[in-house]
Parts: sequence; C-alpha cells; structure tokens
Amino acid sequence: MDASPFNIELFLLCLLCSIIFNSVMCSLKIHCNEKDMNTLLHFKQGLIDPSGVLSSWFPELDCCEWSGVKCDDITGRVTQLYLPCYTNHPQLVPYGNKDDKSHCLSGVFSLTLLELEFLNYLNLSNNDLKCIKYNSIGSHECNDLSTENLTYLFGNTTKLHYLDLSYNYDLLVHNLHWISPLTSLQYLNLGGIYIHKDIDWLQPVTMLPSLEELHLVSCQLENIYPSLHYANFTSLQVLNLAHNDFVSELPTWLFNLSSHISHIDVSQNQIHSQLPRTLPCFRSLMSLVLSRNYLKGTIPDWFGQLEQLQELDLSQNFLSGPIPTSLGNLSSLTILILETNELNGSLPDNLGQLFNLETLRVAANSLTGVVSERNLLSFSNLRELSLSSPGLVFDFDSEWVPPFQLKRIRLGYVRNKFPAWLFKQSSLKYLTIGDSSSSFEPLDKFWKLATQLEFISLERNIINGDMSNVLLNSKVVWLVGNNLGGGMPRISPEVVVLHLRNNSLSGSMSTFLCQNMTNKTNLVHLNMANNNLSGDLTDCWNNWESLVLINLGHNNLKGKIPNSMGSLSNLRFLSLGSNKLSGEVPLSLKNCHNLWIFDVGHNNLSGVIPSWLAQSIKGLKLGSNQFSGTIPTQMCQLHSLMVMDFSSNRLSGSIPNCLHNITTMVGNYASTRRVGFILNFPGFSITVVTSIQILTKGNELSYVDLMNVIDLSNNNLSGNVPSDMYMLTGLQSLNLSHNHLMGTISEEILNLKPLESIDLSRNNFSGQIPRSMSTLHYLEVLNLSFNNFLGKIPSGTQLGFTDLSYIGNPSLCGPPLTNICPQDKELHGTKPMEEEDDDDDEKHEIYSWFYMGLGIGFAVGFWGVLVSAIFFNRRCNHAYMH
Ligand SMILES: *[C@@H]1O[C@H](CO)[C@@H](O)[C@H](O)[C@H]1NC(C)=O
Ligand SMILES: *[C@@H]1O[C@H](CO)[C@@H](O)[C@H](O)[C@H]1NC(C)=O
Ligand SMILES: *[C@@H]1O[C@H](CO)[C@@H](O)[C@H](O)[C@H]1NC(C)=O
Ligand SMILES: *[C@@H]1O[C@H](CO)[C@@H](O)[C@H](O)[C@H]1NC(C)=O
Ligand SMILES: *[C@@H]1O[C@H](CO)[C@@H](O)[C@H](O)[C@H]1NC(C)=O
Ligand SMILES: *[C@@H]1O[C@H](CO)[C@@H](O)[C@H](O)[C@H]1NC(C)=O
Ligand SMILES: *[C@@H]1O[C@H](CO)[C@@H](O)[C@H](O)[C@H]1NC(C)=O
Ligand SMILES: *[C@@H]1O[C@H](CO)[C@@H](O)[C@H](O)[C@H]1NC(C)=O
Ligand SMILES: *[C@@H]1O[C@H](CO)[C@@H](O)[C@H](O)[C@H]1NC(C)=O
Ligand SMILES: *[C@@H]1O[C@H](CO)[C@@H](O)[C@H](O)[C@H]1NC(C)=O
Repeated sequence: MDASPFNIELFLLCLLCSIIFNSVMCSLKIHCNEKDMNTLLHFKQGLIDPSGVLSSWFPELDCCEWSGVKCDDITGRVTQLYLPCYTNHPQLVPYGNKDDKSHCLSGVFSLTLLELEFLNYLNLSNNDLKCIKYNSIGSHECNDLSTENLTYLFGNTTKLHYLDLSYNYDLLVHNLHWISPLTSLQYLNLGGIYIHKDIDWLQPVTMLPSLEELHLVSCQLENIYPSLHYANFTSLQVLNLAHNDFVSELPTWLFNLSSHISHIDVSQNQIHSQLPRTLPCFRSLMSLVLSRNYLKGTIPDWFGQLEQLQELDLSQNFLSGPIPTSLGNLSSLTILILETNELNGSLPDNLGQLFNLETLRVAANSLTGVVSERNLLSFSNLRELSLSSPGLVFDFDSEWVPPFQLKRIRLGYVRNKFPAWLFKQSSLKYLTIGDSSSSFEPLDKFWKLATQLEFISLERNIINGDMSNVLLNSKVVWLVGNNLGGGMPRISPEVVVLHLRNNSLSGSMSTFLCQNMTNKTNLVHLNMANNNLSGDLTDCWNNWESLVLINLGHNNLKGKIPNSMGSLSNLRFLSLGSNKLSGEVPLSLKNCHNLWIFDVGHNNLSGVIPSWLAQSIKGLKLGSNQFSGTIPTQMCQLHSLMVMDFSSNRLSGSIPNCLHNITTMVGNYASTRRVGFILNFPGFSITVVTSIQILTKGNELSYVDLMNVIDLSNNNLSGNVPSDMYMLTGLQSLNLSHNHLMGTISEEILNLKPLESIDLSRNNFSGQIPRSMSTLHYLEVLNLSFNNFLGKIPSGTQLGFTDLSYIGNPSLCGPPLTNICPQDKELHGTKPMEEEDDDDDEKHEIYSWFYMGLGIGFAVGFWGVLVSAIFFNRRCNHAYMH
C-alpha cells in the first residue's frame, strides 16, 4: 500500500510539533529554586557521607540534578528526596552482626529540611543517622524536639506526604510531638528506631488527619492503650506495630477506627464534607500487623467488623480463647496469620468463606477438632498453609484433589498418614512437618517430591527408611529426630544445610566425604550428631571448604582427627565430642583460624593442650580426654573465650596466672553471648543458633546464651589459686574440684560478683572460708567439701547450703555442720565434738554431682529459625531451651 498524502501531512505536523515543543522546553528549562538549594546544602552540612552519595550536591550544579533530588517540572521546587541506603546480605552473616552501614549516610538529620515547603516524599531509610535536631548547626540537643518549636519554625505549610526514616538504628526519639505539625503525612515509617519508652506515641500520630500508613515496627513501644475506646485516626489503612513490647489485651480503639469512618461516610454526609480535603473517600483499615508482642486475652468478635481487612497478622503473642467465627465475615482477607498463640477451640467452619485467602497460618496454638478437605475446599488461591496443633486431627480423603497449589506448608502432629494430596502439590518449595507419628507412603515417592523443594524440615517424626540411596537436592535439609537409618545419603551441590541429628544412620562417612566432586559443594552446615556412624573421619575434608559447622558428636567415630580438616578455613563450629577419637589434635587445625566453638570432649585424645588455637574461640571443650602437661599460658590470649572446659584430663602444674587477660572473663561481656549465623537464600533465610552443653551448678544444661565458665576439675593441678583469678569479674562458674590445689581462698573472691557456682572440693585448700563469700548473691552451688578449711563457717555463707557443701574439712565447725565450734561449745556447754565420719565413700555417693538428663534446645520456626545443638549430653531426651 502507498502512504496516503494525509499520512505524510500528519507526519510533518508531528515533526513540527516536536521541534517547537523541544525549543520551548529548552528556553523554559526549569532551574532549581535557590531557597530550596540552600536548605539542601544546609542539610548536607549535618551529614557524614563516607561513600560520596551527595558528591553531586554542589552549588554549581542545578540542585534538581543532584542525586536523590526531584523537582517539580513547572515550579522547580524540590518535591522528593530519595536517599535510602542499600546494605548487602551476604549468604552467611554471623549471629548478632548488624548490617554493615559504613557506606551509609550518618550524622544529623536536621529538621530544617522541612523548610522545603513543597517536599512531598522523603526517604532516608536504612541509613546510619545518629540524631534528629532542629538545626544541624545550632547548639540544640540531639532528639530534643517539641511541637511548639516546629510550628514556630515551619508554620503549617509542609506538604510532606511520605516520611521514611526506618532502620536508622541509632536514632533515638524521646517523643513524637515533632510529627504533629506534618499535617499532610500519609505515610510514616519509623521502624527500628528506639522511641523512648514512656512517650505518649499514639496521640501525636492520631492528630495526622491524612495518615494512611503507620509503620512502627521494632520501636520498643510498651503501651498500646488497651482501654482507650477511640483513637482519632481518620484515614488509617495500614497499621504495623509488630515486634514491640506491648503487654495487654488487644486495644478497642482498633475497632472504632473503621466504625467511626463508615459511620460518617455512610450516614452523615454533612460531616464528611467537613473532613480535610485530602481524605478522598471512605477509607478503612486494610492491613493490621501486631505480631511479635506480648498481647494477651481473646480476639474480640468485633474483628469481624473490620470489613476492609486484607491482612491480619496477630502471630507470636499470647492470645487465647477461640478464633472468632466472625473472622469468616472478612471477605477481603488474603492473609490471616494467627500462628504461635494460645488459641483453642476448633478451626471455625466459616473461615471456608474466605475464598480470597492466599495465606492461612494458624500453627502452634492449642486448636482442637478435625480438619478435613471441607475446611479447605474454597481456598483456590491458597499459597501458604500452616496447621499444627497437638489436638488437631487431620482427616483427608486420600483421593482429594485440592483446588490450590501451595508454595509453603507446615503441618504437625499428624497421626495416621501424611495427607496424600501433598504429593499433588507441584509448586511446593517449603515443607515443614513436625511431631508426627506418621510417615510418607510410599517413602521413595516422597524423596522424589523432595527434590523439587528448597527447604525441608521434618523434625521429630517417625520416618523410617534407608537413606543410603536417597539423593537430596534441597538447599536446607533439616531431618532431625526421625528414625532414618542406613548409610549417609547422597547430596547434590545445591545442598547448603544437612542436618540429620538424632537418627539411626550407621556405617562409615568415607563414601560421602570422599566422593568424586565434579562440581564444587556448597555445604555449610553438616550435623550428623547422635547417630551410629562408625569408622574414622577419613582424610577427604579438602573437598568441603565451604563448611562452617560440623557436628559429628555422639557417634562411634574412631581414629585420629584428620589433617585435612585443617583445610576448612571457613569453619566456625567443630564438634566431635563423645566419640572414640584418639591421638593428638593435629597442628593443621591452626588454619581453622575463625573457630568459635571447638568441642572434642569425651574422647581419648592425648598429648598436650594445643597452644596455637584460634584466638576467635568462644567455647573450648577438651574435657574427659587424656590430655597431659600443663595448661599453656597461650590460653590467656583467647580474648573471646567464655567456656573453658579442661576437666577430667591429666593436666599437671599450676593454673596460669594470666587468666584475667581473657577479656570476656573480666566482665567485658561480648555484645551477644549467642553463637550462630544467619544463612540468606533467595526468598528465605534461616538462623542457626548453637547451644552449648555446660556442666555448671551441678547440672549439665544446654545453653543458647553462653556463660563464662572455667572447669579444670579432675586433673593433677597443684599450687595455689593464682591471684589473678580474683580479677575475673565476669566469671559465672568455677570448678577446680578433684585436684591437688592448696593455699587459702582470698577475701577478694567478693570481686567475682556474677558467680553462680563454685566447686573447690577435694583439694588441699586451707585457712578460713572467706567471709566475703556471703556477698556473692547469685551463688546457687557451693562445694568446699574435703579440704582443710578450718574455723567457723562464716554466717551468711551457710545460707541455703547444706552440710554437704562443707563436710570432709575436719577443722571446720558451726552450722550447717553438726560439730560445734570450740568458742560456741564453751557457751553452750555440753555436747561433745563429733568425730569425722570414716564412711567416706558412702557420703561421696550422696553428694557427688549427678548429671541431669536434660537434652538440647532447638526450635524450628515455620519460615526457618533453626537452633542447632552443637554439644550434647550423654542422655539427651527432653528439649530444653534456655
Ligand atoms: C524507601 O526506600 C526503600 C529502599 O528503596 C524502599 O524499600 C521503601 O519502600 C521506600 N519507602 C517509601 C515510603 O517509599
Ligand atoms: C524551643 O526551642 C528553644 C531553642 O530554640 C528552647 O529554648 C525552648 O525551650 C524550646 N521550647 C520548647 C517548648 O521546647
Ligand atoms: C497555621 O494554621 C492556623 C490555623 O489552623 C493559622 O491560624 C496560622 O496562621 C497558620 N500558621 C502559619 C505560619 O501558616
Ligand atoms: C479528630 O481529628 C480531626 C482532624 O485532625 C479533628 O478535626 C477532630 O476534631 C478530631 N476529633 C476528636 C474527637 O478528637
Ligand atoms: C467505640 O467508641 C465508643 C465511644 O466513642 C465506645 O463507647 C465504644 O465502646 C467503643 N467501641 C469499642 C469496641 O471499644
Ligand atoms: C457476618 O455478617 C452478617 C451480615 O453482615 C451478620 O449478620 C453476621 O452476624 C456476621 N457474623 C458474625 C459471626 O459476626
Ligand atoms: C479455651 O481456653 C480458655 C481459657 O483460656 C478456657 O476457659 C476455655 O474453656 C477453653 N476452651 C476450649 C474449647 O478448650
Ligand atoms: C574419581 O575420579 C578419578 C579421576 O578423576 C578416578 O581415577 C577415580 O577412580 C574416581 N573415584 C571414584 C570413587 O569414582
Ligand atoms: C555440575 O555443574 C554443571 C554446570 O553448572 C551442571 O550442568 C551439571 O549438571 C552439574 N553436575 C552435577 C552432578 O550436579
Ligand atoms: C597479659 O596481659 C598483659 C598486659 O595486660 C601482658 O603484659 C601479658 O604478656 C599478657 N599475658 C599473656 C600470657 O598473654
């Protein structure tokens, strides 16, 4: 076809148009308003900008071209400031590490910025700002803000609609009154900012007539005003107050949020016309998130009247009573999360009316009753389902074809058979099933399904079966506490976490470890503790450089610790305790210079205690081996050491007089006493926190937060208690029992304020028991028995302790012992001094420490908070979480 003349004309016209238009644009090019530029330059002065984010902010360049600045095309006034900081999330982050913000903006957030009268959007989220001030130059105090002054400064002209200062963790805000003059605010996010506790935070935000979204996550707020009937929010749609410290019932003002508005909107149009112009029309709460608080009481029926709700998250609180049936009226609901509360009763039938639901999570409550396909029939959009309670009975037809394809599922306490429809979930990526006395039938079909999953957690189920022919392919494979047997499974390079603790796997690990690696393995976490693995630790560890955690404790492994373990330079946790390993600790382990936890206790290792151990070590368990020689002074250079267990070896010589060089032991508490790491994957992350088994206070307990412990008991140590022992002002447990130590105990022991347990029994200590011991208020265990202490037991120290703490000291007298002190005898006259009992052994039976059978703490969150036990007791049965 030919182009018609008409078309050509049109084309020419357009060309002309665009030429004219461009030249007009050029001649009218908008320049930045000078007042705004000066305001921005002033704002910049208060900031510290380590990575030059603001390097384009200089007067010679038009300020509308500055990075992060956006102006109005017509007026040239600054309307937007977008300067958030981006922090990376590497795959592995040590627990407790904050994001690296060294490249982010720091310094003062000066409120003079609000002199930008047309600023509409301000985003400084995730930076490292330290202080809010009126004026970055003046001498005002940080964070000392009040309404009066703000209004005075800026009048009521601000047009700010969006304010996002979230995750500037070091900001501290005493009050929110400075917010109230920002009357145009529609969106406010102060998440992660510590808002001073005794502040009346609700009142200033309710004064904002246009506020639609309020995000105050992790602000350490305490009061949610439970008895307030009415909060004057007129436009609120999104309220997120997760992860605060609210301890109360659900506040009733939430109810009046929507009823108030709908009342005005529906029936009183004349009032509606008086509402601020910015209120477009009928608004109501659409998203309510109150998770991770301490909210208690029931969920009131009136929740069913929050008609516009699309998201309701009340998880991780202490809410009790039934799930109100009225929730079935929330027909817009797409997300309903009530997980981890104390809700009881059955799953209301009419929740089935919520056919828009995409997420239904109600696990970890006390729900009862039967769940069958009837409850789930209408959920064709469902993507996430979590249902798990000891009292819930699953009764699904084995032929049922669900209308949904789930991405995540969590079930628990399944008694007969796992629902057959699970096999039909071809989109499934995350599977969690716990505490079930059932299995998959057929199991090989399950392992086939499992290859499509990214995350499998099957914990404390009764899944039998031989693992030797299973090929695992998920990033996280968490199969703790089942009945899995056979040899080690095979893993693909995809697998990052392989956790098979508490199963019955047997045989040697050599095929697994020494397999020909065509592709590099990504395994970070290998936990095979509490199985029946045998053979030696084969020397193939150089295939596994990515490993950060190895726990092979409580197996039947023998032979030497292989040299190739020294090639694991990323290793942080090495636990080989309670096996039959022998020989010396190989020098090659010197290359594991990042170690935090080194546990080889309860083996037959010999030689001297290695003096070259990594300085990063926080937990060192060498107890119950054949180590000999002296305690090397290099131990004092382990500045982060919290647990030092050398008990039941053949160590001799004296205790080194330098222990005070261990910084943590002198009370410089590590910022976190928890040792673990966070693994970030695309789409999810898991937190692995290790627990450490510590024998203290007479019991062997599993601690997630490490204590400061020195245990040198059952050796051949001699000499005095070195003077610097009295400087360990952070020590919580000291056990020097069953040695040949002598000398006196100094009154200076009162420096060791946090001491909870002292065992000095079965040594040759002499002299008086220091009186100052009675000032150790945390002391729960005291054992001074079988020494040569003499004189009267100081009053105060005997409080709460029986004679078992003192017996076997022939010259010790006074209560709680029965032999009366000579001076008291004169007073009271008659009673003869009792002879020391010869029946030594029998008594020893009575008071010798017994090991309580407390097991290991671990918790698995639905979306993956995993606590991995690193050390184990001999008899671990019950879960114990400290
Ligand atoms: C601020 O920026 C961050 C990072 O881009 C973004 O996630 C956040 O949603 C922004 N806030 C607002 C209110 O747009
Ligand atoms: C307002 O700021 C001034 C300093 O500019 C200060 O002296 C005054 O106390 C403030 N007023 C209030 C009510 O905080
Ligand atoms: C602020 O608004 C009030 C009325 O709400 C008005 O009287 C006052 O003049 C305004 N102040 C400024 C500085 O615009
Ligand atoms: C609620 O707030 C609006 C606008 O801020 C105000 O006009 C109204 O008087 C307030 N009502 C109550 C009862 O405080
Ligand atoms: C809503 O507010 C009114 C008073 O404004 C009060 O009487 C009523 O009890 C409130 N409703 C709830 C559920 O608290
Ligand atoms: C659900 O809504 C209907 C109509 O609005 C109402 O009659 C019924 O009582 C409500 N159900 C519950 C449980 O609140
Ligand atoms: C639910 O728990 C409450 C106490 O929180 C109790 O009074 C009630 O009887 C329980 N209901 C059921 C069905 O167990
Ligand atoms: C591993 O690969 C090497 C050659 O790369 C081969 O000689 C050896 O037999 C293989 N071993 C096993 C167990 O497949
Ligand atoms: C090894 O990696 C290559 C390329 O990434 C891939 O094609 C191959 O399937 C992998 N082999 C195995 C055994 O996973
Ligand atoms: C302990 O620290 C002191 C300094 O405080 C230092 O002189 C000494 O060498 C250190 N001792 C050991 C064994 O590290």
